Amino acid sequence: MSPSADSIRSIGILGAGRVATALARRAVAAGYDVRIATAKPAAEISLLAEIVTPGATAVDAADLARTDLTVVAIPLRKYRDLDPSHFAGRAVVDVMNYWAPTDGELADFEADHRTSSEVVQDHLAGALLVKAFNHIGYHDLEADHRPAGAGDRRALAVAGDHEDTRRAVATVIDRLGFDAVDAGPLAAGRVLQPGTEIFNGSHSAAQLSGLLAEACAGARV
Ligand SMILES: NC(=O)c1ccc[n+]([C@@H]2O[C@H](COP(=O)([O-])OP(=O)(O)OC[C@H]3O[C@@H](n4cnc5c(N)ncnc54)[C@H](OP(=O)(O)O)[C@@H]3O)[C@@H](O)[C@H]2O)c1
Repeated sequence: MSPSADSIRSIGILGAGRVATALARRAVAAGYDVRIATAKPAAEISLLAEIVTPGATAVDAADLARTDLTVVAIPLRKYRDLDPSHFAGRAVVDVMNYWAPTDGELADFEADHRTSSEVVQDHLAGALLVKAFNHIGYHDLEADHRPAGAGDRRALAVAGDHEDTRRAVATVIDRLGFDAVDAGPLAAGRVLQPGTEIFNGSHSAAQLSGLLAEACAGARV
C-alpha cells in the first residue's frame, strides 16, 4: 500500500555509491530515519556508512523492506538482482538511468521500446514504482537544495502510475530541498531520461512544468 504524503518517516536506500550516499546525507539532514544497504552484509558497509553518511544506519538489503520508502540506486545492469518479493506492495523510487556510453549496451533496454523504469517495474511486479532523482547529478543534490520558497530553488520531477505514491515522493523531494513537479504516469519518465532537455539542465518548477508539457505532447505520453 502506498504511504500517504506525510507518513514517510524512514527511507531505505539500496546502493552506497555516488547518488545513494548523496541522497542518504540529504535525507538524514531532512530528519528521516535512513537505512542504507548494498548486496554485501551490513557489517561490510557499516564503517562506510559511519564516515560517508553519518546518521544513516547500515543494514542488510532485506531489511530495507521495513522502511516506508525504498530508493533503488544501483547500476541499472544489476536490476535483475533485485528480489521482487522485497518490493511488492511497497513504494519504491527508481533513480536508475540507462546510458549506453557508460553502462555499455544492455539488451533488455536496447530491445525494449519502453522507458527503463517501466522495464524495472515489470521486474518488480507489484511494487509502487516512481521515477525520481534520476535527472540530477549526485554533486548537485548536495549543492542545489534550498529551503521552500527560495527564488532559485531547483525542481525535480516524479513519474509513476500510482498517484498516492507520486504525492508521497513529492513530499520527500520537498523536504530534501527541491520543488517537486508531478510528471504523471511512469511512461512519462521518457522525457526525464538521459539525452533529454530535462535530464541535461537545471530548472525551476515553472520551467520544468513547461518542459514536461511540451515534451510529453511531443512524445505523446
Ligand atoms: N551518479 C549520479 O550523479 C547519478 C544521478 C542520478 C541517477 N544515477 C543513477 O543511479 C544509479 C547509481 O549510480 P551511481 O553513480 O551512484 O553508481 P555507483 O557510484 O557505481 O554506485 C553503485 C552502488 O550500487 C551498489 N550495488 C551494485 N550492485 C548491487 C546490487 N545487486 N544490490 C545492491 N547494491 C548494489 C554498489 O555496491 P558495491 O560497490 O558493493 O558493488 C554501489 O554502492 C545508476 O543507475 C545511475 O544511472 C546516477
